Amino acid sequence: MIGLGTVGVGVVRLLEQERHLALKKIAVRDLKKERGVALPCELTASVPEIIEDPEIEIVIEVMGGEQPALDFIRRAIERRKHVVTANKELLAKHGPELFALARDNGVAIFFEASVAGGIPLISTIHKGLEANRISAVIGILNGTTNFILSRMEEEGESYQSALARAQKLGFAEADPTNDVDGHDVAYKLSILSALAHGRFVRPESIYRQGIRKVSAADIAQAREFGYRVKLVGMTCLADPDSAGGALSVRVHPMLVPLSHPLAAVSGSNNGILVRGHAVGEITMVGPGAGQMPTASAVVGDAINLASALALPDFASYFQPEIDPTWAATAEPGDFRCPFYLNLSVSDVPGVIGQIGTIFGNHDISIQSIIQRGVQDRGASVIILTQAVLDSNMASALAELQQRDFLLEIVNAMRIFQPEAIHAP
Ligand SMILES: NC(=O)c1ccc[n+]([C@@H]2O[C@H](COP(=O)([O-])OP(=O)(O)OC[C@H]3O[C@@H](n4cnc5c(N)ncnc54)[C@H](OP(=O)(O)O)[C@@H]3O)[C@@H](O)[C@H]2O)c1
Repeated sequence: MIGLGTVGVGVVRLLEQERHLALKKIAVRDLKKERGVALPCELTASVPEIIEDPEIEIVIEVMGGEQPALDFIRRAIERRKHVVTANKELLAKHGPELFALARDNGVAIFFEASVAGGIPLISTIHKGLEANRISAVIGILNGTTNFILSRMEEEGESYQSALARAQKLGFAEADPTNDVDGHDVAYKLSILSALAHGRFVRPESIYRQGIRKVSAADIAQAREFGYRVKLVGMTCLADPDSAGGALSVRVHPMLVPLSHPLAAVSGSNNGILVRGHAVGEITMVGPGAGQMPTASAVVGDAINLASALALPDFASYFQPEIDPTWAATAEPGDFRCPFYLNLSVSDVPGVIGQIGTIFGNHDISIQSIIQRGVQDRGASVIILTQAVLDSNMASALAELQQRDFLLEIVNAMRIFQPEAIHAP
């Protein structure tokens, strides 16, 4: 095993009770660090000692990051070792190369822990739903942001104060960028695209918006309309009738109807909905991170791998069919959904009429509009629209910004309309 941090220690604890698998060596950076767990084997500061050991059949990578993890995994595969990894960043950025390399060397890469921690999502899509054409995987894939948004709703806390609490409780890192700006979800969507649709998506081509701009006031307002704000990631066939075509892959905050199962995913949990043409829709909910849930996925992979080692050609059975080229992505502007808008405007006559005219010019129908007087700063206008193309909303907001009456677009969030994202 490479790495003995949060996840690695969990793996050691779980393997204590496992009779058929033994850890032979664990590589770390700092040999002197106190690990808080009884060590089952020798520690080494030299990863090549593991990779070059002919007795070692499976390398578990729980060190994280892009480099040197990439070099280590490449070399392990070239030495014909099977790999279990929890490293979403690595797979999202180098998946096509690594899976092709594994295929050429007749070994398997297992990666259950890389998405949704303890939820057996990867094996469910890969094996359990094998008979299905998957049209969409949609979910709450980041526990840190879900914890923050849940605190903001339940306690009325500001984003900053909910983030500080998440950091204090160990749910968020000192630099929360990866979580709150949606990078972590984008990595997971790349991996889910490979599994569900056969190709990885370059993380930088995933449309991404984080939660920094979401305010407790927006969350309370959304609640009044019957919605809960969630950071939603999705990878869907842009045209459900054309498997192999472009993918619509995106992550942004959305207003989820309170009656939808994803709205009930609270705290640091993850929740994922998968649509298949035969199964219809299934939803899985559970812990998306944490020491033991993540170790549960890593050790489950290792047990599966070990139990199949003696079978001939088993690696090809376990390897999902992933095309070595990157997926094409749909234009972000072609996405269609209703919007929630929070505008700050001058409190002068005719503003609502002008907003209506601008929206009409861009083919946007308003479903409801509420104006509230706000001292000093003019008025606050809250609008819910019917389903609209992203590109039309962007051009309408650009036109609004040219008008003197507009003080600020306080927030513009999409509304999750399950039926608008094509049915199976
Ligand atoms: N934590 C979670 O809840 C969670 C959930 C899902 C997935 N993951 C993924 O699991 C992986 C591990 O996460 P973690 O939270 O366990 O990380 P972590 O606590 O930071 O542990 C990283 C470990 O890797 C070791 N390491 C780093 N660079 C190394 C190098 N060059 N050579 C040898 N060892 C090296 C470190 O050694 P030292 O201890 O000596 O510094 C440390 O033991 C990441 O890919 C992460 O994205 C984590």
